[in-house]
Amino acid sequence: MAAVDRTGKTYFVTGGASGLGLAVAKLLLAQGANIAIGDKNVEDGKKTAETLGPRCLFCELDVTQKESMRAAMRSTVAEFKGLHGVINCAGVGSAFTTVDKKGEPHSDKFWDFVMKINAYGTFYGSSEGAAEMAKLPADAEGNRGVIINVASVAAYEGQRGQLAYSASKGAVVAMTLPMARDLSRYGIRAMCIAPGIMDTPLMQSAAPKVKEGLLASVAGPKRFGTSEEFASLCAHIIDNGYLNGETIRLDGGVRFANL
Ligand SMILES: NC(=O)c1ccc[n+]([C@@H]2O[C@H](COP(=O)([O-])OP(=O)(O)OC[C@H]3O[C@@H](n4cnc5c(N)ncnc54)[C@H](O)[C@@H]3O)[C@@H](O)[C@H]2O)c1
Repeated sequence: MAAVDRTGKTYFVTGGASGLGLAVAKLLLAQGANIAIGDKNVEDGKKTAETLGPRCLFCELDVTQKESMRAAMRSTVAEFKGLHGVINCAGVGSAFTTVDKKGEPHSDKFWDFVMKINAYGTFYGSSEGAAEMAKLPADAEGNRGVIINVASVAAYEGQRGQLAYSASKGAVVAMTLPMARDLSRYGIRAMCIAPGIMDTPLMQSAAPKVKEGLLASVAGPKRFGTSEEFASLCAHIIDNGYLNGETIRLDGGVRFANL
């Protein structure tokens, strides 16, 4: 099979300074694309962009702020004269129960924090990114690009303490189909990936006992998913023009019981 050549294509990756976002940025860049990494972590983001070279732009970004997202998308288009995809990887986890051990209800401050980053962040990344893409010329088949949202298997099987996280990721799954329908007139597809347990820095730091417990729920292979497997699925979604409006679980068949 011929090597993929993405020369002249530009992709914006939110949360691209770390983990899954960084892996997809690296892969698309290696395939010739221009990449903009949008992240709140300025130190890691700048360092990453410097290491990755002139086809990688770092944009300081807070996904919870629409204006910040708009400015980042616009500077990407100004720098590379195009935008062909947005991969919404910025996200945070949560660990709060609906009512805690002292009988206190879930903090709405924390609920808002998670919702703002995971649900609003994805909404802003998609809508602001699509608006920029829609202004640009389509290819010969009328296609402009693709949005890839990142949910989690917690959208379907949230564990204890994942109330806010699961709700935010459920929103990400649910927004993908109407987004695909809305954007079809512009030749923009919208897809979603729901990763299972992925071997990012967060999971690497977990205690061996915790890791073992999680792996028991994976059908196989009995290991965590890699960020390279995530990146490879993103690349496939970009290339397969008939994938639209769907969420793909990337999870080794994991199904969490009542943990
Ligand atoms: N790692 C997993 O096992 C796993 C499983 C399921 C889903 N996911 C989802 O995949 C996505 C990426 O996860 P990861 O493991 O790579 O996480 P990560 O922590 O390695 O990377 C997340 C990035 O998002 C950035 N970020 C956080 N808040 C931001 C904000 N307000 N504005 C801009 N950037 C912000 C962080 O600085 C960081 O660089 C997340 O949405 C996560 O929920 C991860």
